[in-house]
Amino acid sequence: LAPVVWNRAEGFQVFDASGNCWIDFTSGIYVANQGHAHPAVRKAIAAELDRSLIHSYLFANAARARLVAKLVDISPPRLNKAMLLSTGSESIECAIKLTRLHGLNISPKKSVIVSFEGCNHGRTMAAQMLVSSPEGKKWITSLDPDIVHLPFPGGRPGTDLFKQDLEDLRMRGIDPHRIAGFVMESYHAGNGPLFFPESYVQSLRSWTSDHSALLVFDEIQSGFGRTGKYFGFEHYGVEPDLVCCGKAISSSLPLSVVLGRGDVLDLPDPGQMTSTHTGNPICCAAAYAALEVMEQEDLVAAAAEKGVVLERRLKQTEERFAGRVGRILGRGLMYSFTLFDESGNPDADLAKRATDASIAKGVMLLYTYPTGQIKIIPPLSIPAEALLEGLDAIEQAIEECLR
Ligand SMILES: Cc1ncc(COP(=O)(O)O)c(C=O)c1O
Repeated sequence: LAPVVWNRAEGFQVFDASGNCWIDFTSGIYVANQGHAHPAVRKAIAAELDRSLIHSYLFANAARARLVAKLVDISPPRLNKAMLLSTGSESIECAIKLTRLHGLNISPKKSVIVSFEGCNHGRTMAAQMLVSSPEGKKWITSLDPDIVHLPFPGGRPGTDLFKQDLEDLRMRGIDPHRIAGFVMESYHAGNGPLFFPESYVQSLRSWTSDHSALLVFDEIQSGFGRTGKYFGFEHYGVEPDLVCCGKAISSSLPLSVVLGRGDVLDLPDPGQMTSTHTGNPICCAAAYAALEVMEQEDLVAAAAEKGVVLERRLKQTEERFAGRVGRILGRGLMYSFTLFDESGNPDADLAKRATDASIAKGVMLLYTYPTGQIKIIPPLSIPAEALLEGLDAIEQAIEECLR
């Protein structure tokens, strides 16, 4: 990351202590969907602070009760309970535990959890095991044999890929009846965003329903309007059994949630699913206000509309630098494009230089290594003019780097 010290962040802008200002195309990594330090969120935090309840452990508090009711209200009907936690990874750990408990209750052999190659689910131990790439798992000395990965289905040939994948698992010695559940991101983030084929997710959903296996969506990145839908799974016309959310739920303070079927969330024995900071009142007040902002400012529709503007402008940049800029991917306000070298290979060094040059011009930006991608993830509340101004600056930065 570029050596910039954030001093203040408001709306779509970030400032350093010298008064330099950036248009933020990172949203603090998918957090500030509602804009940084939204006045309503700050007001809610301040009000909670003034009431002098800044912690209550598992004892009930009004801010938590209100938030949980709201979360259940905004979710599909089958997701009628919520467990609040602190980080995205913690919510994934919790979902893994619930999925296992659900499977093991049916049969002592029903313990297999399936995830997809290239997806990201966090950095704690079980979450890291869901991630397929070996690099992040070097520190884990005994990998769980009942966590297995399927290749990402997008772009693969075949008509009924999901059935083929089940057959593939069988060939690998994994009886599909042993599957307790599937955990999937709403899009493959690593080298994406790449969305799953709709028919694949629908086959997966109907198979899991028929075989008492759970479908868990990781909405930590894609939730709360980022892709132009409230939840990313809405792109597939399915309803999951469990959903993990974090990041933009509060647009600020650490809070995450596992939303799910009550019968699944009630599986752990008393005392077996607790967390010291579950439902901290200040985090809950921030999240409640952030969810209200989503509605009041109609940010889901805003993301869908501005996504069209964003894609159109990126295509112009692609045309201008034909061969060096391409592979534009995305929906809503979650886009990426790739920079290529003269031989047509992804060029991570060029992406880094273009990112640094954009930051020098006043656009806060992230690139990924080694894929050579630049990610465009502005707050959903960004005005269209600021979005276009930022994209102009990135285009100038690319031009300078290629010169
Ligand atoms: C899709 C996804 N899942 C899980 C996580 C982990 O969340 P956290 O960093 O809050 O633990 C992330 C974080 O980037 C993520 O993008």
